[in-house]
Order: sequence, then structure tokens, then C-alpha cells
Amino acid sequence: MEAVLELKNVNKHFGKKQILHDISFSVNEGEILGFIGPNGAGKTTTIKLILGLQRIDSGEVFINGKNIKTNFKEAMERVGAIVENPDSYMYLSGMQNLELIARLYKNISKEKINELVELVGLKDRIHDKVSKYSLGMRQRLGIAEALLNSPNLLVLDEPTNGLDPEGITELRNLLVKLATENKVAILISSHNLAELQSFCTNICIIQEGKIISTESINALQHDSLGRYIIELNHLENIDSYLKEEDKKLENNMIEVGREREEISDFIFELLKNNYKIYQVKEKEKTLEQAFLERIGGENDEKSNQK
Ligand SMILES: Nc1ncnc2c1ncn2[C@@H]1O[C@H](COP(=O)(O)OP(=O)(O)O)[C@@H](O)[C@H]1O
Ligand SMILES: [Mg+2]
Repeated sequence: MEAVLELKNVNKHFGKKQILHDISFSVNEGEILGFIGPNGAGKTTTIKLILGLQRIDSGEVFINGKNIKTNFKEAMERVGAIVENPDSYMYLSGMQNLELIARLYKNISKEKINELVELVGLKDRIHDKVSKYSLGMRQRLGIAEALLNSPNLLVLDEPTNGLDPEGITELRNLLVKLATENKVAILISSHNLAELQSFCTNICIIQEGKIISTESINALQHDSLGRYIIELNHLENIDSYLKEEDKKLENNMIEVGREREEISDFIFELLKNNYKIYQVKEKEKTLEQAFLERIGGENDEKSNQK
């Protein structure tokens, strides 16, 4: 499958300072890529490069297979985006805003506009002035505007900023619908991993202008060195089977850290020695933990080099 968006070794300097280092990632149709990193990591800069709002120093960006450097107009044909805050005209209604933007494109029917209004859940309020909207409603109007041109790539820079939990839930439902039903590829940035964890299909972590990991949510949660909880019939002599960082828990349970491949040998060893095993379960990491491990790993490497 050809990626809808692909970045290859993108670099960017501002003055003498290198802001982005060899950024590479891709988003396929129907995927929601969470682009996560602390403030100042380079998320907005990356997004501006993708949209042609800043110049790339070196590297390539392809959208629907078109290089934005050599084929900008075609590359942007099916892109919808919100960078920083959506800026609608506050003194016009939501509908007037949509009609205004629709005029910038060719052949956008009234039906299409109504469909989008329905999709983003603004039907009841679309004739109210935007100044009367909540931030969440403005965000959804912004998305309707970004969708007017039927994009297959939607790029959203920190759209959850300033939204209350209800606004975030509405945004999440909308994005999941777009990805699953309309097969839109979505790139969404945030400095808050927890907000995106529940609905992104993939996570790309950026720190100090470098990608430190790109993975599916599943891979991030079930990482190689798992922690396993095992329930036995008793814990007599169990110490001789445990490693230093393993733990005995209450109710004849133990918690052990093993590679995926090791855990089955470990259980076999216990069985051979007449322990009974009632349950084995993998302790699921929260994405936050996996994220901190990544960043911790990076910092460790750096401090080793010093
Ligand atoms: N126009 C600019 N000129 C100089 N430095 C910039 C400019 N835009 C962003 N930066 C710097 O680039 C880094 C990344 O910024 P940004 O992409 O906005 O990060 P994020 O969106 O992840 O918070 C920051 O150190 C910021 O100060
Ligand atoms: Mg930013």
C-alpha cells in the first residue's frame, strides 16, 4: 500500500540551530498517527514543512506519492489541515464560514456542506455566530472546513489544546469515524500522550527534533521485556527461581520480568518442579510508561556518551 503521507530524512535549521534531524515517518489510509512530543520538540515545524508553510532544508515529503518540492499543487490537492487554532470569522455563522471557504474550491455542493455539518455534529448550531461557539465547536467547524475539499489526508496540530474532556471525546469520535469510514489518513500532534492513547492506531514520538520511536499502539503497549504476574499453588523455595528484580506478591503470586521468549521456559521450569500454575498474565503498560521508558533510554545513552 502506498503511504498517503511519507517523510524521508527531513531536516530543518532556523539560523544556526538545527530544529529537525532526519525526520522520517509515514501515514497510510485509515491510520491515525499520534505525533507526540514535549513543547518545543518540533511538531509544529514538521507540520508546517508538510504543508509547505516552511521550506525544507533537505529530505523529502510525499503526499499521495507526489513530492511537495517538485509537485506542490498536486500534492496539496487532497490535504486538509488545521495548524495552531482554527481561525473562522467570528462575526459570521458557521454556515457562512463554510460557504465562504467552499467558494475557494470548485464544485462544492450545498449537499456536501450539509453532510459535513452533520458529520461534525454542528447541525443544530450551524446558523449561530461562531463567536457564540465553544472552543470544541470551533475546532469541529475547523475540521468541517478542512474537509470541504474531500481530503484523504487530514493534518491537525494540537487540536485538543484547550478542549474540555467532553470536547476531546467529540473530537475523538469524529476522527475515528473519518479514519474508519472514510479511510482518511490522519496526522494529529499533541504534547499529551494520554489524550491520544485511546484512539490513535500508531504513535510517533519526537524529542528535541529527533524521532525516538514510531510504532503501532499495540507494539508500544506489549513491549519485548514484559512483566508477568503468575499465580502458583505455593511459594516455597520460589526464591531459587527468581531473578533479582522479580517480586513475590500476596496470595501466592509472583511478578517477573522476562523476554517474551523466556517466559514459556520459565513456566516449564516451575511445572517440572511440581508447582501448579493457576494463571499467567502480562502486565499491560500504559502508553505513558512506554513513553517514559523511551525517553529514559534516550537520556541514558546521551549521558553515557558524555
Ligand atoms: N520561525 C522560527 N524561528 C526560529 N526558531 C523557531 C521558529 N519556529 C520554531 N522555532 C524553534 O523550533 C523548535 C521547535 O518548535 P515547534 O516546532 O514549534 O515545537 P512544538 O510544536 O513541538 O512545540 C523550538 O525550539 C522553537 O523555538
Ligand atoms: Mg506546536
